[in-house]
Amino acid sequence: MADLDGVKEAKNFHAGVPQKSEGFFLKGSNSLDWGMKNRLARIFNPQSGNTVMLAVDHGYFQGPTTGLERIDLDILPLVPYADTLMLTRGILRSIVPPSMTLPIVIRASGGSSILKELSNEEIAVAVEDSVRLNVSAMAVQVFIGGEYEKQSIHNMTRLIDQGIRAGIPTLAVTAVGTDMARDARYFRLATRICAELGAHYVKTYFIEEGFETVTSCCPVPIVIAGGKKLPELDALTMAYKAIQQGANGVDMGRNIFQSEAPKAMIQAVGAVVHRNETPEKAFQMYNDLKNQK
Ligand code: 5RP
Repeated sequence: MADLDGVKEAKNFHAGVPQKSEGFFLKGSNSLDWGMKNRLARIFNPQSGNTVMLAVDHGYFQGPTTGLERIDLDILPLVPYADTLMLTRGILRSIVPPSMTLPIVIRASGGSSILKELSNEEIAVAVEDSVRLNVSAMAVQVFIGGEYEKQSIHNMTRLIDQGIRAGIPTLAVTAVGTDMARDARYFRLATRICAELGAHYVKTYFIEEGFETVTSCCPVPIVIAGGKKLPELDALTMAYKAIQQGANGVDMGRNIFQSEAPKAMIQAVGAVVHRNETPEKAFQMYNDLKNQK
């Protein structure tokens, strides 16, 4: 039985101080439930509002990609500099130590390889497994204009419904067919469709013309993929322009893990994303860190 003798009288009621009711820092996310917001606040840094997601999920459709042959040796050392790790459950379970507390975005769609039609995907992870793996978000590929457009949109909406039941946000990844125009009109269409149908944030590509129109008419945060490997200064310039034009971060893979100095590169990207560092200064930082080796 609880000891009720000597219980102190409650007195700190601060009766004249209204309870704070904070708005949530992330674009379009204020009406989400607590668990969703908490997971998003692990992915997006609440101070800067932005994220550096380290994307290493490429193997799910193209096998052992250059730079990802040995995730244990070449990727785990980068983890301290990332805000989030995006990967498959196979790599998570087989290689990533559970003591690592970095938030995980799980690749939750799949089903076709580079040898076949890529848009022919299904949901590839049950939401129960995402819960079991304690992930912070689930990523699904959406092929607007692709051969299996409807199927990929349906994958997304089903994953969103399952995620809402579990309190897990969904990241829609807009995939562009090689024969499609990568322009502002296309990316406005693709990102807006994903957001309208309930994606909690959207990944897309940076474009030189009109990217700010893509971010401004998408009601939820946008992060950019890095795309194919560029010279380091060019990749930092792309990240800088994207952030200045309204992106809330990067989901970058090859431009980090295929860099000559991945550890230096991820830190330079972080400076651009979180501290608005200019590309030139970030490149200097990259070279300084690279030469410290
Ligand atoms: C694969 C993906 C990748 O995670 C994405 O393309 C990011 O990697 P990169 O910066 O190398 O483009 O979603 O479909």
